[in-house]
This record gives sequence, C-alpha cells and structure tokens, in this order.
Amino acid sequence: MTATYHVKTFGCQMNVYDSERIGELLEAEGYAPAGIDTADVVVLNTCHIRERAAEKTYSDVGRLRTRPAAPRIVVAGCVAQAEGAEIIARAPAVDVVVGPNAYHRLPALLATGGVDTEMPPEPKFDALPPRRATAGHAAFLTVQEGCDKFCTFCVVPYTRGGEVSRPAEALVAEARALVAGGAKEITLLGQNVNAYRDGEVTVAGLIRRIAALPGLARLRYTTSHPRDMADDLIAAHGEVEVLMPYLHLPVQSGSTRVLKAMNRAHTRDSYLRILDRLRAARPDIALSGDFIVGFPGETDADFAETVRIVREVGYAQAYSFKYSARPGTPAASLPGQVPEDVKDARLAELQAAIGDCALAFNRASVGTRCDVLLDRPGRRPGQLIGKSPWLQSVVVTDPAARIGDLVPVDLTDAQPNSLTGVPVTRTDPPLTRAAA
Ligand code: 5AD
Ligand code: SF4
Repeated sequence: MTATYHVKTFGCQMNVYDSERIGELLEAEGYAPAGIDTADVVVLNTCHIRERAAEKTYSDVGRLRTRPAAPRIVVAGCVAQAEGAEIIARAPAVDVVVGPNAYHRLPALLATGGVDTEMPPEPKFDALPPRRATAGHAAFLTVQEGCDKFCTFCVVPYTRGGEVSRPAEALVAEARALVAGGAKEITLLGQNVNAYRDGEVTVAGLIRRIAALPGLARLRYTTSHPRDMADDLIAAHGEVEVLMPYLHLPVQSGSTRVLKAMNRAHTRDSYLRILDRLRAARPDIALSGDFIVGFPGETDADFAETVRIVREVGYAQAYSFKYSARPGTPAASLPGQVPEDVKDARLAELQAAIGDCALAFNRASVGTRCDVLLDRPGRRPGQLIGKSPWLQSVVVTDPAARIGDLVPVDLTDAQPNSLTGVPVTRTDPPLTRAAA
C-alpha cells in the first residue's frame, strides 16, 4: 500500500510555501496526501515567533501520539530550528526534527530518524523537485529568507539565519511555471523581501521581470522592513501595472522611544514620510501593519502614540500582538516587563482602533468597481469569496463564476472584514467614480 503524508502549517506564509514544497518532495518520493488522522507521516511545520505559537507544536504532538495508529511525526520549521534535539528529549514520540534550511533532506531523515538543523551549503531549492502545476490561482513564491535586522524582540534572525536571496533567474523560471499552471496572482515572500538582492537585481528589478510574464494578472510581495523601502521599489508601485496597490509595512509601535528600544532603525516620523512617498507614487495604496503592545518599558503615553499612528495612517488592516519574551532575544532580559493584564487591555484598545480603520477603509470602497480574484466558496450556495486589489475579502453571488476567475464587480456594501460585490454585466454603464 502507498505510504501517506500530511503537512500541518503554523505561522507565516513562508511556512505555507515550505509546506507546499515539502508536499511536492514527499509526493516525488511516492507518498500520497492524506488527512491528519490517517496519514502515515505527519509533518508539523512550526512557528516560533511567540510562545503560544511554539507551544502548539507540543500539544499537536501529544494528540498525534495517542492516535489509534500513531504516525511517524516530523517537526519542521522554526521550532525545529530553535529547539533541535530538545524536542525529542521533551517529546520522544517525535521521529524527525528538520530545520527550514534542511527539509530537502527529509526523505533520507525519514529512513533513519533524527535531527537536522544545519544550514547546509547546498541550497535546498536546487535539491527540491520542480514545482508541480497545481499551486493554485494565487501562488506564493519565496524569494528571500532570513533577516539581519535583529529587532530586539524577534527570534527570526536566530531561527532563520541571515538574509539570503535566491537567484533571479531561478525565480523568474519558477514564476513562469506557476503561471503556466494557472496562477493569476503571485505573492513574493521573504522575511524581508525588500532586502532582496541578486547582483544588480533588487526586489524592484525582480518585480519588473516577473510582472512582464504574460498571463500574470497580479503581483504582491510581503513582508517588508521600512528601512529597505528603496526609491526604485517605491517608484515601481507607481509604474508596474500588475503590482497591486497594497503594502504590508510593519511599524510595530508609534512611539519613537519604543522603536529605538526595539532596534527598528526608523522613527515614527521617518516611517510616516515613507508612507507619504508611497502615496505620492500610488495614491490608492492600501496599508497594512504589525504592532506589538506591552514591549518592555512601554508606558501609557507610548501606547497612546501607537493608537494615534493607527488612526493617522488609516490602515486597511493590521495585525497586533502582545509582546512575548523569546528566549535568547535581547528584549527578554530588559527591565520594565509589562504585566499581562496591562497587555490585554492595550491589545483590546488597539484592536478596536484597527477595526474602526478597516471598516472606514471598506466603507470608502463602496460605490467603486474592481476585479476580484475568486479563491474560495462562500457560506451560502452560489456565493464565492475573493480578494480585491486592496486585499479585501469580497463576497460575490454569481452562479456562472468559478474559483480562479477574475471577475469585475461593483462594491455595494461594507462590513468590518468583508465587502459585497455585485458582478458587472455588459449592460451596466461604466462607473464615473474610480476607486480612490
Ligand atoms: N512578541 C510579540 N510579537 C512578535 N512579533 C515578532 N516577535 C514577537 C514577539 N516576541 C510580531 C511582529 C512581527 C510579526 C510577524 O510578529 O509584529 O512583525
Ligand atoms: Fe524579526 Fe525585525 Fe527581522 Fe522582522 S525585521 S524578521 S521583526 S528581526
């Protein structure tokens, strides 16, 4: 009987991409996909960014261990990199621990069991089988990994190592294969994708090359550090038609004092000036961000600055987190750790402000027309959900439409997390008001 596998993904989109590649690798080895309750091999592709994310690894191992026929368990991803052999010491049911830079060696590891958290000299991407043609209509493409920024709260520079960019030629070839397989949208991924560099090719150069592929309708990239928002990248937002008007540009805090303690290398004002330049290049650009509340030493006044910057920027959406002290990071041993109940209260207040902004952003879209890339079924029969250029979820009722279609709709109603889109028919008059 054919052996089966299942990959469960935690954390960021880079893990989603790695999970796809791990699936392709195992299928090339003869494994067939299966559910988590029956697969012979279960890969947990883990996240280490906050304590709660890391702990999920162990609760999942516990659950798998007691399955009627226990599977072979692989812990991959950032917990694997950070904790290595300690994982097997703590959870002996785990057979294999493999880091994010070594998963191309998974077939050999499955034969022997054991731990591989090396950052090997041979690039894993060269050793992996080619992309299969089923990566979907909105595909991810990891172009850069690792981070050299050393924000004082963050484990990424330790778990993922320094910034490494993949060769532009290989990326254009992979993007071409994704488009040939039906991808209409590609999102370029990196821990710091705007630090991408291959010789003379910057991320803006890479964007221009991939944007030129016939058949590609949409291009996005994430995630970015404000320090690396170079002039050519900002210019690309105004010039490259398929580059979508959306940018995830985390600021983390609105207080320059806290930003300094975070080692962010930007201030509140320098961040806002970058947004001014982006809006000058692309007036309709939607912004998204990440925020941490309760960083050590954060006062009520610092936190008020964070709420103020959220309202000032008017984020289309944003992610916010309570500070979580991570082992080995400088901030973990700073004085002035903020009590949990204060973090809870700040998080609630910040999320309310972010929700207000998202609703205001969605309401401002009502009455405009845009294309929606349908990517999943909706709750009611005949409903499909897709993304607007500004990454809003749009619910469309159109019995003729299929997942993967790019359909023009009029946006007629706004909720905090979604919009209603009515398909445009050929007889509809053109809208006079363009999306702003
Ligand atoms: N605690 C809380 N949030 C964190 N992030 C990164 N490290 C931590 C931490 N130790 C958040 C940042 C980052 C996002 C991916 O996760 O906001 O941008
Ligand atoms: Fe972590 Fe900062 Fe690097 Fe982002 S830029 S991955 S927050 S160290």
